[in-house]
Amino acid sequence: MSDVTPKRKKLYIETVGCQMNLLDSELVVGKLRNEGYELTDDIGKADTILYNTCSVRQHAEDKIYSALGRIKQLKQLKPELTIGVLGCMAQKDQKQILKRAPHVDIVVGPGQLARVPELLVLAKEEATPQMAVSLPRTAGSNLTVTASFAEYDPIREPAMRPTPFQAFVRIMMGCDKFCTYCIVPSVRGPEQSRPAAVIVDEARALADQGVKEITLLGQTVNSYRSVDASGRTFRLSDLLERLHEIEGLQRIKFITNFPNDMTDDLLQAVRDLPRVSRYLHVPAQSGCDEVLKRMKRTYSVALYDDMLDRIRETVPDAAVSSDFIVGFPGESEASFEKSMRLVERGRFKNSFIFKYSPRQGTKADTLFIDDIPEEVKKRRNNDLLVLQTAISQEDNRRLIGQSLEVLVEGPSKSSKGVAAGEIGQLSGRSSCDRIVVFEGHERLVGQFVPVSIEDASGVTLFGRVVTMDLVAPRA
Ligand code: SAH
Ligand code: SF4
Ligand code: F3S
Repeated sequence: MSDVTPKRKKLYIETVGCQMNLLDSELVVGKLRNEGYELTDDIGKADTILYNTCSVRQHAEDKIYSALGRIKQLKQLKPELTIGVLGCMAQKDQKQILKRAPHVDIVVGPGQLARVPELLVLAKEEATPQMAVSLPRTAGSNLTVTASFAEYDPIREPAMRPTPFQAFVRIMMGCDKFCTYCIVPSVRGPEQSRPAAVIVDEARALADQGVKEITLLGQTVNSYRSVDASGRTFRLSDLLERLHEIEGLQRIKFITNFPNDMTDDLLQAVRDLPRVSRYLHVPAQSGCDEVLKRMKRTYSVALYDDMLDRIRETVPDAAVSSDFIVGFPGESEASFEKSMRLVERGRFKNSFIFKYSPRQGTKADTLFIDDIPEEVKKRRNNDLLVLQTAISQEDNRRLIGQSLEVLVEGPSKSSKGVAAGEIGQLSGRSSCDRIVVFEGHERLVGQFVPVSIEDASGVTLFGRVVTMDLVAPRA
């Protein structure tokens, strides 16, 4: 009898950028698996190589263009290889990608990912590169532009998740804030909130598959607003309440928040719903009003400070984290000092700090000269990071002696892995999103365990499982 099983095509995928991209990659792989592909970690064995790309800073794009350069030879040796560029850089650079890397077969923007399987086939059949991108934001009515960033009906792929028990759930697409430095509104399209019922169904299906923690995603997740058929409006706080009822879901996170929309109903929901993570990521970007104005962030430092006060009052155990851009056009030493002072006042759990990177097509790039020299950006980045790290360490050390509930994610980064049935160094996260490292049995992976904190650095807490019989299996 001959073997009639067709050989499965091997897919290699690399993802850069934010959690939106991680989720998109999961959905693309889910769809391709249905079409007979299987994943490989070995780029040399792949029949199809996909890059899911990011355009938020120049560095993210450079990384992909150099990866494309490296695989040019691979394609020469193996002409049947199919290469795809997906995601935000595909939407931004479009045909330029094919000019710079003519060995690319498909270019697909984030709003067109459902077409990946079909385009892979077309590229082969017609032996010519295929491109699918959404409309530019100014190309027509909001309705037609929005439709070109249509929702991608998800087929989930557990192998692509951070872990089998953690999953991302998109609640909003696109962004309408148009911060002057930012490429996201043009590559991800108009802001849209998905209907609450669709989100709840998706979360329930994930919980049925054994997912214990979901992270709700949106560029400004707390601006979420949808109206159902009966006319009822759902805000993020209402959605959290609904999701909180789903059996099996033990932790609900949401990222990223916009300061103006950090309303009291949301803070109260975080306070009152125990399974909602005590973690609020609310980027400030700068501590100087003039810079915020040029960034078009639409809030003042006073509003941000007031928001921090309200958070501390309502949810005192919540950890807040922030993003900062240093070296934005016209950022004087005095402006930068104001960001330093905000980091001091904010006592953030951590801050993601970025050097301003001009993005073609954005307002900031058109209106302002990138006038802060690279060395100055570097120094400011470093100064802010040193200050933030000292604060993180101080606040982490305050947790010594406390017991935190940790969702165990797997072996710690520094360990060499923990084999099945063995004890080793494990790592997980607390409800306030702190990384906790401790010794434990491999079977704890995927479980919530109480860990007593004994030591702390700026990024990690070290502890011991509270109940000793959880460390080793009972004899
Ligand atoms: N929607 C999120 C941010 C998405 S981009 C929000 O509004 O908070 C993630 C971070 O990248 C931003 O918070 C910002 O700090 C940084 N960023 C965006 N554009 C940038 C640019 N042109 N140069 C440097 N950093 C940038
Ligand atoms: Fe970019 Fe601003 Fe939208 Fe965030 S809110 S994605 S920084 S435009
Ligand atoms: Fe990058 Fe696109 Fe996310 S530009 S940060 S991958 S939305």
